[in-house]
Amino acid sequence: MRGLNECKRSGYNNQNQRVTQITQKNLFSSYTLSILMTLFRAFLCQALALILTLLAAYFLPILHYYPAIFLLCQSTLAVIASQCVGLPRWWRVIHFLFLPCVFVFFMFPVPAWVYFALVVLMTLIFWGTVRGDVPLFLSSDEVALSVIALMEAENVKKFADLGAGIGTVALPVANAFPHVQVDAWERAPIPWLISTLRGKNLANYTVSRRNLFDANFAEYEVIFAFLSPRVMPDIGEQLQTKMRKGTLFISSSFPVPDWTPERILQIHDSSKTLLYCYRIY
Ligand SMILES: C[S@@+](CC[C@H](N)C(=O)[O-])C[C@H]1O[C@@H](n2cnc3c(N)ncnc32)[C@H](O)[C@@H]1O
Repeated sequence: MRGLNECKRSGYNNQNQRVTQITQKNLFSSYTLSILMTLFRAFLCQALALILTLLAAYFLPILHYYPAIFLLCQSTLAVIASQCVGLPRWWRVIHFLFLPCVFVFFMFPVPAWVYFALVVLMTLIFWGTVRGDVPLFLSSDEVALSVIALMEAENVKKFADLGAGIGTVALPVANAFPHVQVDAWERAPIPWLISTLRGKNLANYTVSRRNLFDANFAEYEVIFAFLSPRVMPDIGEQLQTKMRKGTLFISSSFPVPDWTPERILQIHDSSKTLLYCYRIY
């Protein structure tokens, strides 16, 4: 099972409880800390790439004369640095585009509609975030593989990803289990559209652009969610009453307060993600 390490295989012994309690106590701070650490690493990548490119420009005049080559060099180095510090793959796009965009904004008069278009674009990606919804933050490939590995031990007919983003977990699951109906719940328009397009050739994959709380939790044998500490109490309350006995809820990164996980898996990805696996009783 690649990228997966089991913290506790069975039984709710003291150590397992301790992991849960510590995580619950520091829920908000650990989430904020992990986001701040990611942003700090991203900043380091940009800064390092810029310093190296400026140093290179000292020896290579071509970098002085052609801003495009300077920008290409910095962007490429930033992407390499991002890979080296283990930032998730999608950060590479941001690193590649960051300095060229800053350059364009400063060098050319940018019409007001561009700012407006950017605000619209951000709104369509981060739809409910201002209302308190969880922002788009993608799971790693290792998380998807681990969910697939967990599902192999289950008798699953229907699987749901609550807040599926662009299908980072739901799509690999649908590909791995063609006989399992995979429902992705995602209400932010652009992630929903990307997820829909990515899965358009899969007969067992549907994406609903609706509130995840509208899902009929009783239909699923396995439910996966990567949300936030804020919604976990509500999710727990709903799942407890609606999921069937013996079914499985997998929560990435955030435990359900006061629930005891059947197991906690440590994933070997850049975020050292914890998967909390809860059996419904
Ligand atoms: C942290 S991302 C997780 C994405 C994906 N599941 C993954 O693991 O890569 C959370 C996603 O949930 C979506 N979301 C948040 N609240 C939601 C709600 N109430 N109904 C539907 N989707 C929601 C957000 O738009 C975002 O795309």
